[in-house]
Amino acid sequence: MSIQKIYKYPAPVLRQKTESISTFDDTLLSLVRDMAETMYDAPGIGLAAPQIGQSVKLIVVDTTKDKEGEPRFMPLINPEIVAHEGTQIDEEGCLSVLDLTATVKRYKKVTVSYQDLQGQAQELSAEDRFAVVLQHEIDHLNGILFLDYLSPLKRALYKKKVKKWLAEEEYPA
Ligand code: NI
Repeated sequence: MSIQKIYKYPAPVLRQKTESISTFDDTLLSLVRDMAETMYDAPGIGLAAPQIGQSVKLIVVDTTKDKEGEPRFMPLINPEIVAHEGTQIDEEGCLSVLDLTATVKRYKKVTVSYQDLQGQAQELSAEDRFAVVLQHEIDHLNGILFLDYLSPLKRALYKKKVKKWLAEEEYPA
């Protein structure tokens, strides 16, 4: 088990198409453990495999700090939004997009199908903040970052900032 490097925008791996997971073995378990450790160290409430350089359909979430009664730590394998309802606007940030938060319009409620660590098909319904986290992390599996939802101007300003960091080799760690 170890804390992994979190890839930052504009790392190409964050834009790659991810592969479905079909082998539920110790390798998967150790990847889930690495992701848990990396997420808690950051700290964050969600992490997607591409963020640690793995192009596979796996996310981990822990939203207990925001919503009581939700499962504490959850790995979701091959997650997909199968139903949604309503909309909400909430503030988001991302461990791969430093020094930026922005309001994003999301579904208010989502139903997500996924597989657990044993490969069993599961389904869960989430709303409010938990639903936002799930949508944000599932977006990562499709190469989508929350900054893609910003206005063109805000996005351009952020890209300019990142360019400057990279040019000066001062990308915040
Ligand atoms: Ni993110």
